[in-house]
Amino acid sequence: MCGIVGYVGAENSTRAVDVVLEGLSRLEYRGYDSAGVAVTTGTISQVKRAGKLQNLLDELASNPLPNSATSIGHTRWTTHGGPTDENAHPHLSFDGSISLVHNGIIENHAELARELAEQGIERVTQTDTEVVAHHLALSYKKEGDLTKALLATVAELEGSFTIVAIAADAPGTVVAARRNSPLVVGLGDGENFVGSDVAAFVGQTKRAIEMGQDELVTITPDSVTIQTFEGEPVERDEFEINWNAEAAVKGGFNTFMEKEIHDQPSAVRDTLLGRMSESGSLMLDELRIDESILRRIDKIIVVACGTAAYAGHVAKYAIEHWCRIPVEVELAHEFRYRDPVVSEKTLVVAITQSGETMDTLMAVRHARDQGAKVLAIVNTHGSTIARESDAVLYTHAGPEVAVASTKAFVAQITATYLLGLYLAQLRGNKYSDEVITYLDELMAMPDKITAVISQEDEIKALVASMKDVKTVLFLGRHVGYPVALEGALKLKELAYIHAEGFAAGELKHGPIALVEEDQPVFFIVPTPRRPVLHAKVLSNLQEVKARGARVLCIAEEGDTAVAEYADTVIRIPETPTLLHPLVSVVPLQIFACALATEKGLDVDQPRNLAKSVTVE
Ligand code: M6R
Repeated sequence: MCGIVGYVGAENSTRAVDVVLEGLSRLEYRGYDSAGVAVTTGTISQVKRAGKLQNLLDELASNPLPNSATSIGHTRWTTHGGPTDENAHPHLSFDGSISLVHNGIIENHAELARELAEQGIERVTQTDTEVVAHHLALSYKKEGDLTKALLATVAELEGSFTIVAIAADAPGTVVAARRNSPLVVGLGDGENFVGSDVAAFVGQTKRAIEMGQDELVTITPDSVTIQTFEGEPVERDEFEINWNAEAAVKGGFNTFMEKEIHDQPSAVRDTLLGRMSESGSLMLDELRIDESILRRIDKIIVVACGTAAYAGHVAKYAIEHWCRIPVEVELAHEFRYRDPVVSEKTLVVAITQSGETMDTLMAVRHARDQGAKVLAIVNTHGSTIARESDAVLYTHAGPEVAVASTKAFVAQITATYLLGLYLAQLRGNKYSDEVITYLDELMAMPDKITAVISQEDEIKALVASMKDVKTVLFLGRHVGYPVALEGALKLKELAYIHAEGFAAGELKHGPIALVEEDQPVFFIVPTPRRPVLHAKVLSNLQEVKARGARVLCIAEEGDTAVAEYADTVIRIPETPTLLHPLVSVVPLQIFACALATEKGLDVDQPRNLAKSVTVE
């Protein structure tokens, strides 16, 4: 949570503020409670405003900052202290010598504040961050060097943090440090950048360096120097950013979410691209696990949160069916607290768009401590979870900006299919021609998703009569069950409507009591080519219809049986059972987005949420 940018250009450069503001606009999805920017020109000047970035931009339009080559900026998701101008970052030290921005939580802030109070330095905000600015200023006075001062300061901090700082008397230098929070460095020509993720500077450069855990970087226009918190120099190769800046702008749509729904065919296609070796076998992106270990695993545990966990639920059906390995799906934040049975024969699969979700990161660390191997399915290169895992399978969904996950979800599901087929091939559960048949079916999915998206006007037309509904229910069986959960989550987070997803078979065990006249109920109907499953859902459908519900079905073309009981049928193309979620979730995303729009809500930045949940 929170987006951070730092920039340093040549002495006569005047674009620091513009670069930082552009970075903040791309990072705003990480938090939008307040935003601020600071520059140094021999003295520090800064402006910060509560609310969305636009409030800061409006203020800067009437009261611009001085031209500068060195700047830092922040967009905030509130943890300690309300979303006020005062609590917004950057935070200035008591003597005006230091300005810094922070992402994470300083757990010992109260103790640090007491130490400061003993020296007569009182806090003026309610944040945990402010004390770091004062401590850094005291260290700077002592050390006379910003890098050494930050090294001394991080030694005093407990918790998670990325800190980016500038000093009044050191224009041309930005220092940054990270522990348990993301930080990447962007490499320019006579200018350099730091950011929470590559989106911070993707409009400026395609060259980047990942920062490791407990590392500190000093950037000047011509140098990037990394060291550990112990002061050991670090050499690290750069990587090329494969996202283009245009992918992170709206591209003619009203909202990022609409654009990202439309990006889904390419998200799936790109995730499938280039996966076959010359010998015709499937490949992962980074494999630091011996294949003999993967052949021996006897259990898979998927750890993830929110939408990513629902992708994990879909994975369970596919991987168990293809590989005959038991798969458990565990919310990452529950995983380590229940003393899970994990051994060196367990493969833990962490699914995460951002690669920075703290709950998932902690589950990954716990799993590795217990001797398990961790394979991460991640969308963001250079992210912490990708770095800390034994193997990585990247989803190529491109930057997902809207807080509600759409294209990352279908890309995650696609990646789990690839993983299932990879393991099936490696362990001999499937012959390579069978794997190729599945891959061919997967390659057909982008066009099928496009076919569903092409019905968006009909789906959007449904919302006019739904604006005032209090509850919406979603029911599905088999892989339709996680789709029902995801449909409900989308509606909750976007339209602020109470929604529940259930396994359709569970209906009679309680939830049917919720059904009353006109209660909207979405059914994710399985293919009629699985007659037993299909018939069961048809019965559930009749049970709610008989109680006066308004029944909306997502059903395959040619499934005539549903029409008799449904008030509305949204058609999806004929699709193999296990691949159904890739198409059946799309109408639910469009519906939630349209309903939120109809209610006049902010689709891309729903209240109380942040894109990347980097606190536990
Ligand atoms: O970045 P991650 O995939 O780890 O994020 C996990 C969840 O926070 C995320 O999927 C969240 O549930 C989405 N906002 C839902 O749309």
